[in-house]
This record gives sequence, C-alpha cells and structure tokens, in this order.
Amino acid sequence: MWDRLRNHAATLADRRIADTLTPARAAAFSVEADDMRFDYARTSMDETARDMLVALFDARGVAARREAMFSGAKINETEGRAVLHTALRNPGTGVMVDGRDVMPEVHETLARMETFARAVRSGDFAGAGGTIRDVVNIGIGGSDLGPAMAVRALAPYHDGPRCHFVSNIDPADIATVLDACDPATTLAIVASKTFTTVETMTNAATARDWLAKGVADPAAQLAALSSASGRTDAWGIDPARVFGFEDWVGGRYSVWGPIGLSLMIAIGPERFREFLAGGHAMDRHFRTAPWRQNMPAMLAAVGLWHNQVLGHATRAVLPYDERLGRLPAYLQQLEMESNGKRVSMDGAPLAWDSGPVVWGEPGTNGQHAFYQLIHQGTRVIPCEFLVAARGHDEGLHHQHRLLVANCLAQAEALTRGRSLDEARAIMAARGLEGAELERQAAHRVFPGNRPSTLLSYPRLDPFTLGRIIALYEHRVFVEGVVVGINSFDQWGVELGKELATALAPVIEGTADAQGRDGATQASVAWLRRHGV
Ligand code: F6P
Repeated sequence: MWDRLRNHAATLADRRIADTLTPARAAAFSVEADDMRFDYARTSMDETARDMLVALFDARGVAARREAMFSGAKINETEGRAVLHTALRNPGTGVMVDGRDVMPEVHETLARMETFARAVRSGDFAGAGGTIRDVVNIGIGGSDLGPAMAVRALAPYHDGPRCHFVSNIDPADIATVLDACDPATTLAIVASKTFTTVETMTNAATARDWLAKGVADPAAQLAALSSASGRTDAWGIDPARVFGFEDWVGGRYSVWGPIGLSLMIAIGPERFREFLAGGHAMDRHFRTAPWRQNMPAMLAAVGLWHNQVLGHATRAVLPYDERLGRLPAYLQQLEMESNGKRVSMDGAPLAWDSGPVVWGEPGTNGQHAFYQLIHQGTRVIPCEFLVAARGHDEGLHHQHRLLVANCLAQAEALTRGRSLDEARAIMAARGLEGAELERQAAHRVFPGNRPSTLLSYPRLDPFTLGRIIALYEHRVFVEGVVVGINSFDQWGVELGKELATALAPVIEGTADAQGRDGATQASVAWLRRHGV
C-alpha cells in the first residue's frame, strides 16, 4: 500500500498546491467538529490519496483497534496493559479492565482531587504560614509537560495560587523556582507515576529539605500523584494527599487525572471539568464520525501522507497562540515517545519510517527565527498552524487580528511562493539590471508549494484545550496503528537511564572510569580537571 501511495504521490509531483485552492477544495479538504475547524486544503493530498489512506485505515483495522482501546483491551502489548486515559475524562460508567468497572474509582479520585483543590484554593488547607500562595509541581516527562503546558495555556482562567514546574535534574531548575517561594506558604506536589524517576525523586528531596528549613512539619506540605502508594507511604506523605492512578494511564497521557492536580488548583475544579468535557467531546467525535469527517483521522492521514509517503522527516507545530508556547514540547513527548519505534508490534523491523521529528515555537516569534529555512531551505517541512479567532486580552483585539493575519499570510506564502520572474520584476523596480539583477533575484525566489494545515477554534478556553489535546492523542493513535507499532510503551528511554545510574558514581569520584569507552573516559577526565 505504501508503494501504491508513493506511486500516486509521484503522479502529483508537478501539480502546484496553490493552483488547487478553490473554495470547493477548501470545503472538501477540511473537517469541522462543533466549532473547531481543521483545514488541510493546503497540502498536496488529493481525493485519490485520501481514499487510499482511508482504505489503509480499514486494512490496518484502525476502527477495531480504536474500540479495543476505548473498551479497556490490553492493546499496550509489550507491557500487558490497557490504554485508558480516555476513561479519565469519561463522565459515564461501564469501562471494564479485567472484568472490573474502573469508572467508580476514576470518579472517586476526581472527587478527592476536587475536595483537596478547593481546600487549597480557599485556604482550608494551609501551610505553616497560612494560605498556600505557591504550588510547585515536581515531575518530568508526562508528569510535567501536560500540566505545565495546560497551566500556561489557560492562564486567563487562573484564580488560584501561582503554579510552578520543576522537572530538570539540573539544580538550576529547582533553585530558581524555590528562590521565588516562601516555604511557609508553598505546597510541593511530587508527580511521578512510578515514584522512582531519579530527577523527580532528587528534586523532591531537595524541596523537602527546603521546606524543613522553613516549617516544622515539611511532610504536611507535600502531596503526591502516583501509582506507587507503597513508595509515597515510605516518603511519609499522608495518604489523604496521595492521588493514585492505574497502570493503564501512560505518563504522556496522564494530564486528565491526578497529574492534572496543579492545573485544577490553578483554574478550579469547575474549569477542570470543562477541560475534561472537551477531551470527552473529542473522544465521542473520534469514535463516531466517518473517517473523512473525523478530525483526528484526517490529521493522521495528513501526517502519514507527509512522513511515510512523501518522506518529510519533520513537522513543525506553530501555534499562533502565545499561551500554547509549551504545546510543541508537549507534542514532542506525545508523538515522539509514542511513535518513535523501530519495530512493529510483533517485533519485526519496520519496513517504513516510524513517526516524524516534531518541533516548533509560537508564531509570530518563529517567523523571525527559523521560518527562513521553512520558506527557502532545501527540505520541505510540513507546517501545522493553530490559531484562535479571538484572544483573551481585552482591548487588544486589533493586535490579535494582526496575529491572525500573520498566520494566514504564512500559510499563503508557503503555498504561493515567489517565482523568478516575480523576483526579477521586484529587482527591476528597484533599479537593478543585468547580472546584478539576476544574482539578487535568485535570492528572492520562494519555491512555494510547501504544505501546511490550519487548526482554528473560537478561543483557547478549557473545553477547547481539552479538545486539542485529545485530537492530537488520537492522531498519534491512528498513525501508530497504521504504521503497526505499539504507541504506548517507551523502551527507548531505558538504556540512557541505566547508563546514567552506572556513571553517577564515576562522576562523583567513588568509582573509576575503567571499562567505559575511551570517549567517556576522556570526558570524565576533562570534567574532573575542571571541578565536576
Ligand atoms: O523516561 C520516560 C518516562 O517514563 C515518561 O514516559 C514519563 O512520562 C516520565 O518518564 C516520568 O515518569 P514518572 O511519572 O514515573 O516519574
């Protein structure tokens, strides 16, 4: 099928996207779900390609796999686990794992989180110095990126204490955050599914020591978000402030449950419920909409078309929404930890590429940094733009309109480009001629025909953020099923962790570097000479 798709893509090579952009094309190659619109008209995908990709969904059994996921089957086969982050945003009942309905426990934990969040926000739960003013979430990967991204995205809805995020083992991270807080009015939340992650446990110990210098009972200002209740007990954290979740919630899919506690404290339980409702609305859409009207499926179709068919190895995520500044980092984990795999579910090497490199920055900042390469570099980089019709910043609507204009202008510039003749005319109008005109004109040519998509929504509110995150989750799911990989394990992070554990005593000077490779020995020796 990939060969057929590639052969078909070759027949489209001479077609220019800009020439296809009729109103009919804009209607036929866009999907609306409630008040959100995904527009993929500005790609080279034609109806035949889309039909082939939809046929591929059917051939690869995406619908059956989707139902297996929603119904609690153990589709994470290498870890023998169900994949049920969708249950965390499901207001209903009857989701079974191993013959047990998991929903009552999900709702009970959510209710406990709400009680605690309300207490923190109202001051009923206080630090030694009174009402909590600062919440420090200590976690990494999925235990950091989801809440950090969402707290920033929903800043206009904050009416709780300030939230900070510490993730890096680099002491600069925690030192900077703690410097701005007072131990007497700080709640430290240790967010770790396993409660073993070195970065998190090291930072948590640092935070506990810092609390101990300012308050008599540091453990009273700690909460934990974890599946490992035995380990949270060993830390002396009151079980009343431990919020657990099951192994069927993957780290990078965990913002919907206890890992979202900092977000809930920041925006309040009601707004958090709107966020969950947004995710659930996207779940319903994903489960019921026919493929061509199915937003996650079409987002996946575009991803497969660009990466596996056309061979574009990266995609840029470009939110024209400053508050989505951490979305690219969040999607890097979601997409690359999920679909960066080299073997298929049965262990055989993949015969095609796995997921792409995902990167990006908010617009318009990126325009003044890396868009040069996107417009005129030798490689094609599919761009995924996001933009809201309205911002939150009262009185600055004109500025928001400029933001929107820039977003649409970039999409147009990418497809349209500028021909050599157009560049020559510009140079001639500036008075150049002859060889100098030719030389200068060449630098001003834009090849154009560069693909982009646009996700637009009325405003970045909690419901919409929930929809956006669930949209990308399901996109990753569809792409993973089509490519044939397990999107829900992450064995590729293990080797580095093991070697770091082995190297730590070498760096500390309690073990020597004998037996390490020559390059490592040389690095260790240099770092020792310079005081490591
Ligand atoms: O190392 C990768 C990873 O396991 C991620 O998948 C996860 O989100 C992160 O580490 C943090 O894990 P934990 O929540 O167990 O500390």
